[in-house]
Amino acid sequence: MIVLGIETTCDETAAAVVERQANGRGRILSNLVRSQIADHAAFGGVVPEIAARAHVEVLDLMIARAMQEAEREFHQIDGVAAAAGPGLIGGVIVGLTTAKAIALVREKPLIAVNHLEAHALTARLTDGVAFPYCLFLASGGHTQIVAVRGVGDYIRLGTTLDDAIGEAFDKTAKLLGLGYPGGPRVEKEAQFGDAGRFSLPRPMAGRVDCDFSLSGLKTALRLEAEKIAPLTDEDVADLCAAFQQAVVDVVADRLRGGLRMFRDTFGAPTALVAAGGVAANQAIRKILHKLAFEAGTVLVAPPPELCTDNGAMIAWAGAERLALGLTDALDTSPRARWPLAEVSKAAERGAQDRG
Ligand code: KG4
Ligand code: ZN
Repeated sequence: MIVLGIETTCDETAAAVVERQANGRGRILSNLVRSQIADHAAFGGVVPEIAARAHVEVLDLMIARAMQEAEREFHQIDGVAAAAGPGLIGGVIVGLTTAKAIALVREKPLIAVNHLEAHALTARLTDGVAFPYCLFLASGGHTQIVAVRGVGDYIRLGTTLDDAIGEAFDKTAKLLGLGYPGGPRVEKEAQFGDAGRFSLPRPMAGRVDCDFSLSGLKTALRLEAEKIAPLTDEDVADLCAAFQQAVVDVVADRLRGGLRMFRDTFGAPTALVAAGGVAANQAIRKILHKLAFEAGTVLVAPPPELCTDNGAMIAWAGAERLALGLTDALDTSPRARWPLAEVSKAAERGAQDRG
């Protein structure tokens, strides 16, 4: 089964063609991503209107290139998948409408994919991970611990009460004048810094739930920076190192609770799966390895280019849903907000269709 996937929920325009074999294994035939970082850099963050316009400008060409690289014609694909949310609504409309047009003209099924579900299922494309597994999803917009029990069957165990981890990295970078996107820059600076020079809080540490809160950490960092301003290069490196270490400690504490909660409710997970842009951070990957080992399981972390937003994950999630007969009508609406728990699974969809 071959599916074209389209991603336009944030600041990456992406198109990919992925094959799902009958045995459930996946193969990426093409995977093109155009980052809009340069379009937004001057504003220190993503500007929704600029993002939507930039998607319009390049998406058609990227789809054509993705098909060309995959050496497939439209009549050879089995479905068209687009991220239908959650995300910046202007961009989501661009991607979903384009997918609908292709589906209509080529008479192919449409699969309206939840962007978070696509992150959640990527480890099955790269590593064929079996259900159930514990997902740690950390991106610019989301921080969640999720029990992934099947396609469309997601139970959220924990989430952030305020900022997402990636957002906290981005805001820290902005505060320290490191530019956008912040994650990779803060990580780079942290390599040269002394994490012990500043004492930053570990919000929520020790609580029985596994929710996150990052805004207190961000404020504490700002206060430390203000105390010693103007900042030298060494100050910036030390602040980055202290911030990253605090995040690593928070992730360790919260995720340890999440893995415990998973085991108590669903039994042993087949893996701890990392997803989202933050999982590209080496210090965070290291602690995830340790946590998985402690919990008697393994860490599965897709390569960085498949952890950040891409079209292959959308195509793959589309293929997983298509294989179960989960397709969507051409009047499906784009959704700015779309929690994972509201994604439907096969049994429910059957009931909805009958009812
Ligand atoms: O998943 P993603 O590409 O986009 C969405 O937010 O959906 O994640 C982007 C986020 C940004 O906030 C970025 O700063 C963060 O992931 N990020 C990192 C690193 N690389 C990307 N955060 C920490 N360390 C990194 N190396
Ligand atoms: Zn994402």
